[in-house]
Amino acid sequence: MTDVIIEQTKEVIPKDLLLLADPSEEMIAEYIHAGTIFVAKLNSKIVGALVVLNTRPKTMEIMNISVYEKYQNKGIGKKLINKAINYAKESKMKTLEIGTGNPGLVQMILYQKCGFRIIGVEFDYFRKYYKEKIIENGIECRDMIRMKMEF
Ligand code: COA
Repeated sequence: MTDVIIEQTKEVIPKDLLLLADPSEEMIAEYIHAGTIFVAKLNSKIVGALVVLNTRPKTMEIMNISVYEKYQNKGIGKKLINKAINYAKESKMKTLEIGTGNPGLVQMILYQKCGFRIIGVEFDYFRKYYKEKIIENGIECRDMIRMKMEF
């Protein structure tokens, strides 16, 4: 989708969009104000969002990446990730991290296509930190697959 633009924003991002990537409003509230937010816009309409956060010295993490279902699989997610990579490099980071749930095969494929590698698993992360059980692709989202890329 060539006419999609990605821009940094201080706009309030629709909650339903952020909830696609992170079903916990409580967790979103913890990073949304501290993070840097980018949106993907198509004809001035927000169709995707990206939130990155400086989590440790020289380390940035993609805290939320989401594209409305209707607009998925058209290259917008990849554009948002490339924006995160460029922004982390411009911000002189050495590492960019992302985490995804164990059922997230499409996510894991996409992140690896973009250059992330799996570095570990946080076992029972979602059972520990999320009140509600999350079911995705017919299995419980239980463990967090940690991925990173180094510059
Ligand atoms: N099997 C294998 N690969 C698949 C796939 C499938 N079923 N569906 C999509 N892909 C691949 C595509 O082939 C594409 O790669 P390509 O460009 O080399 O062909 C890539 O995955 C999708 O890329 P893109 O279209 O840029 O992604 P997107 O705009 O659909 O955004 C997400 C990806 C994850 C942001 C989007 O699906 C989303 O918002 N999901 C819900 C929220 C979420 O899970 N966020 C991440 C939390 S960790």
